[in-house]
Amino acid sequence: MKPRRSAGFAVLGLGMSALVACSNGDDVEVGAGTLQPAPPELLSYSCQEDATRSSSQAELDSSAPALRDSTHNVGAAVAAFRLDEDPAYGQTIAAQFNQLTPENEMKWEAIEPEPGVFDFTAADRLVTFARDNGMKVRGHTLVWHSQLAPWVEELVGPDAVREAMTRHIQTIVAHYRDNFPGVVVAFDVVNEAINVTQGAMGAAPQIYRDSIFYRELGEGFIAEAFQIAHDTDPDVLLFYNDFGVEASTGAKSTGMFDMVSGLVSAGVPINGVGFQMHTGPLDQGPNAADFATNIARYAALGLEVEVTEMDVSLCAIGDNLLGQELQRYRYNRIVSACFASPACRSVSLWGVADPNSWLNDNGCTQGMLTLDTLPAPLAFDDAYGRKAAWWGVYDALNGCTYQ
Ligand code: G3I
Repeated sequence: MKPRRSAGFAVLGLGMSALVACSNGDDVEVGAGTLQPAPPELLSYSCQEDATRSSSQAELDSSAPALRDSTHNVGAAVAAFRLDEDPAYGQTIAAQFNQLTPENEMKWEAIEPEPGVFDFTAADRLVTFARDNGMKVRGHTLVWHSQLAPWVEELVGPDAVREAMTRHIQTIVAHYRDNFPGVVVAFDVVNEAINVTQGAMGAAPQIYRDSIFYRELGEGFIAEAFQIAHDTDPDVLLFYNDFGVEASTGAKSTGMFDMVSGLVSAGVPINGVGFQMHTGPLDQGPNAADFATNIARYAALGLEVEVTEMDVSLCAIGDNLLGQELQRYRYNRIVSACFASPACRSVSLWGVADPNSWLNDNGCTQGMLTLDTLPAPLAFDDAYGRKAAWWGVYDALNGCTYQ
């Protein structure tokens, strides 16, 4: 059994002077239920503040610790164009992660821009990079209302939409099955199909998002998409992926759980669910304990779970010492909560270094005001230096959960 350590964690004071202490627990579990004193070398290796925790350390030094050193699957969203722009980007990814998700390259508008005309150039660039660096790939995403090629929106009638959806899924899943066997291990088959809205004039709430797929095929498009993917490659893992569904309660979480439960009951070939986890630095919305509760109910359905797109925006609190340490805590608690469940297959961050984040597109705003801080939501800084957040992930991957 993998040794597990417990760790104490305290935020001392508030504001810019905040410090974080991560003290080690006294015990390590080394065998079936046996508690023994933790060896000192384990204590200094994972859960202790020390001089190596500087974000300015040379990160590309191959002797530096890496997230991928743990036994867990840990990934990042990667953009193909950045690999060509900046060698340090690819070097960091290859050194640190054992899984990647194409950030945009497998989306419909990129991969099938015209009916039946597939362009795998950028997506294959990423899958080749992954294969060459011993990484796995999460395919993202087959059926989504957003970043659709415009021609799909113009289709009329269920037959046309079904035909386009079927060809799209079959072609992409077969391409990776045949050309990169064993590399693309999972697909987000359907992305963000839940959007709870109140019915007008007392009508029942609507839980499905309006999309060309839902309008033409009804909610059954979800089951159909999974079945087509499974029939094309029975070995690839098939996920439903969404945001704002991490809590165990609330209308959207409930809507998704009911929908997924229905798929499982109906025998639809779904392997798991992805929780995107675009979140903030406080342990809320949901807190880690409630996230664990939510994971448990999906695990009870026999499904796998993943954190698929985690980032921790510092807009609300600022990219300062307090924010950075709370961010570290948040990363640690969520990653720990996922891997505490045997159902948790992987955790992925939505980007590598802060300047790459999609959150920079909008910056930090409050109403009409643009705030004088940045989201800084990821684990590496502008120079690919490891942030405090990196240590939060690293400690979690190595069995150290902050208390
Ligand atoms: O493709 C155009 C390009 O032709 C143009 O020159 C360029 C100019 O800005 O824009 C390009 O499109 C951008 C696209 O990413 C591809 O790079 C869009 O402006 C930009 O808005 C788009 O953002 C992506 C966003 O999804 C779109 O919804 C982000 O990079 C990507 O990180 C984000 O990822 C999503 C997940 O797929 C699903 N879950 C939520 C997550 C965050 O929104």
